[in-house]
Amino acid sequence: MRKKIVAGNWKMNTTPVEGVELAKNVVAGRGEVCSCVDFIVCPPFTHLSEVVKVTRGSGIAVGAQNCAAEAKGAYTGEVSAQMIASLGVEYVILGHSERREYYGETSKTLNAKMEQAYANGLTPIYCVGEKLDEREAGKHFDVVKAQLEEVVYNLTEEQFAKLVVAYEPVWAIGTGKTATAEQAQEIHAFIREVLRARFGAKADDTAILYGGSCKPSNAAEIFAKADVDGGLIGGAALKAEDFLAIGKGFSK
Ligand code: 13P
Repeated sequence: MRKKIVAGNWKMNTTPVEGVELAKNVVAGRGEVCSCVDFIVCPPFTHLSEVVKVTRGSGIAVGAQNCAAEAKGAYTGEVSAQMIASLGVEYVILGHSERREYYGETSKTLNAKMEQAYANGLTPIYCVGEKLDEREAGKHFDVVKAQLEEVVYNLTEEQFAKLVVAYEPVWAIGTGKTATAEQAQEIHAFIREVLRARFGAKADDTAILYGGSCKPSNAAEIFAKADVDGGLIGGAALKAEDFLAIGKGFSK
């Protein structure tokens, strides 16, 4: 049985005080959602320590939104995987399209970041997804395949067993435009095929999350699809009520 995961990517939102309040509200409402759903909150670095404290023992895990490609040293402004893991953080989002687009992250950087994450016991949530022009040109399968082959194919089987993948079409992020459930299923099934080609039946155990304008009103339909194992939520994760309601969207 694959995990069902609802992860919240808070991006660069909330002050630490507001973030702790949000995390507390998620904890408070957690009991209303099936314990079969794994919730993860991914606040900014500055909030991690406090958010780990308020979520401890609640069944809500904490993730970071990025980590350094290097282990330690003279890398001004960077935050290492070791620093993150030492706080009790369990996950790290890597390869988000905003990091690829605005901070020039390439597969080379991402391979190094994945190594750092695994070396420090963090579980990566590796993001893939095409831009609008790529989808319109019918290149979305090729783009996603390359993003997987260039990074995920370099993992060992042991590392792969821990991996979470998130498919986030760039044209659906923060736009209010969601992929249809059919579009999501089509590409999630394709992602699983690409993973199967390298890791065999182990790919059947990989949680593949959908991200891009996911909200309480559309989550259930998308999550009902066979190869969609949950969501990576941006805007709607900033309201505890909406974030938890998305978790109620599982019918399978
Ligand atoms: P939105 O849910 O705001 O579209 O963001 C999705 C996302 O980028 C999550 O990582």
